[in-house]
Amino acid sequence: MHLHTRAFSLHVVFINLLAAITLATHFRGGTISWRPVGGNEVEFFFKMGWTYGLGPGCTESKIGQFVDDPLLNGGSTQNAWKCLQGCTGQPEIQPAHYFCMAASSQEGWEQGQNTFNYTFDQPGLFVVGFEGNAWMRLDNGKGDGDWNVTTTVDLRDRSDIGQPNSSPVSSSQTLYYMQYDCHQELDIPVIDPDGDEVRCYWATGDECKAVCNALPGAHLDSKTCRITFDTTKASNYIPGGFYAVALTIKDYPRTEITLDGSVKKTPTDSLSSVPVQFLIQTPEFNVSCDAKPRFVAPTPAEGSEVLILAGDKLTVHIVADNGNDTSNVTTIDVMGPVRMHQSSLTALPNVQNTFQKTLTWQTTLTDLGEHIVCTRASNERGKSADQRCFTIKIVPDHCRSQPCKNGATCQSITGVLNCQCAPGYTGKHCEIDIDECDPDPCQNGGTCQDHVNAYSCLCVPGFTDKNCST
Ligand SMILES: *[C@@H]1O[C@H](CO)[C@@H](O)[C@H](O)[C@H]1NC(C)=O
Ligand SMILES: *[C@@H]1O[C@H](CO)[C@@H](O)[C@H](O)[C@H]1NC(C)=O
Ligand SMILES: *[C@@H]1O[C@H](CO)[C@@H](O)[C@H](O)[C@H]1NC(C)=O
Ligand SMILES: *[C@@H]1O[C@H](CO)[C@@H](O)[C@H](O)[C@H]1NC(C)=O
Ligand SMILES: *[C@@H]1O[C@H](CO)[C@@H](O)[C@H](O)[C@H]1NC(C)=O
Repeated sequence: MHLHTRAFSLHVVFINLLAAITLATHFRGGTISWRPVGGNEVEFFFKMGWTYGLGPGCTESKIGQFVDDPLLNGGSTQNAWKCLQGCTGQPEIQPAHYFCMAASSQEGWEQGQNTFNYTFDQPGLFVVGFEGNAWMRLDNGKGDGDWNVTTTVDLRDRSDIGQPNSSPVSSSQTLYYMQYDCHQELDIPVIDPDGDEVRCYWATGDECKAVCNALPGAHLDSKTCRITFDTTKASNYIPGGFYAVALTIKDYPRTEITLDGSVKKTPTDSLSSVPVQFLIQTPEFNVSCDAKPRFVAPTPAEGSEVLILAGDKLTVHIVADNGNDTSNVTTIDVMGPVRMHQSSLTALPNVQNTFQKTLTWQTTLTDLGEHIVCTRASNERGKSADQRCFTIKIVPDHCRSQPCKNGATCQSITGVLNCQCAPGYTGKHCEIDIDECDPDPCQNGGTCQDHVNAYSCLCVPGFTDKNCST
């Protein structure tokens, strides 16, 4: 009996301790973006990272699965995306559960992503955000406090495209390892579906809460979204330290436009903003800054675009070797569209110290558009290759309905229909038989007859040859 009670109280203590840890240090950054899907309906896409075991429940064995561990919510309504401004009250619009994308029990993190639809009752403006009070504790007195990850949504029609804006989309990792005592450059991948000008800024105030200015001595190039810093003692970094980056990314029209035919927006007025918050750890390694794994062909090049026709199956090989470090590659993490499948890591049979993961995606018409994929390769030592991000662009296959007539060759690879007509035909779809009798080639009163890519002349008596000219 005595023993029983003891065990029970121990259990209670354990639960309380866990709750306390949850509240102190679990959030590790996130991002959200959106696009209109018709009416006042919006599709949101988000990604976030948590301390391992204190998030929605992503583990190494659950990659690709939906996880919704109730521990994240603790039964409360706290961990949800809400409409913070522009709605009646502050309604929750989606729980923060997600598809598990990558996790490391050893390194203590998990990350995932999800999409969800929400229909507003008017075109906006709105602020949609995820608020909480347990950003992970960082090593420069930052973190260990409130988080706020917010985006502005405006569904008024743009005069240039005749539909609402789409926000910029970023795909950073939620955790980067950047060696202590090295010069570092980090490019934040961003695309804008409308082709707007995109700028990156350090987040301020309510946009970043406990993690404003949390990367010491860093410079941000607004135009290229490149962050430059030195992970040195002189710049206030420590070996193995944790730091955070909080950015706000905005899109600007390239020419003056109006919203709903009345509200003017010039190229200096932003159309929307999205948050990007993530962690950087600065481990110390007993090797040179240059000794790290690297991506090799046929991995798509940094910043490149992989085109595929909707309906086709995409296959991409991500291949990394040891670079000039001596340690083998042991992990390749891929953050990309949820429907893209990733194989497990395998060693290439015929090439020494070279490892690969294969991505496959049976695309459909609903996948149309651009999707960023970012991948990270790291070795046994824990050193990572330079980040590799590329875009998969899924374009409509205009040839599928066989629009090109009369034996034409159909091409759709850039998403634009191109019918290459057989001789004698013209028109967008080669539907027009070229009239070889116009202008009339027959002379001396001959009658012209049109054929495919040919004509003949019926000559009046006394004249002969093809054009009745003699
Ligand atoms: C959101 O709506 C669009 C258009 O109806 C649909 O194609 C898409 O699958 C929806 N997304 C989700 C996550 O339900
Ligand atoms: C988060 O940011 C939004 C937009 O700036 C603001 O309305 C909201 O009050 C902020 N939340 C907190 C908890 O500060
Ligand atoms: C670091 O490297 C040096 C020489 O390359 C070696 O002598 C030393 O033992 C290494 N230290 C550790 C902790 O691996
Ligand atoms: C490592 O490789 C990079 C290029 O991949 C090269 O610039 C650098 O000099 C190499 N460093 C060492 C220590 O070999
Ligand atoms: C590194 O990988 C190769 C396969 O390419 C394997 O033969 C070798 O044993 C690995 N080295 C270590 C230290 O695991």
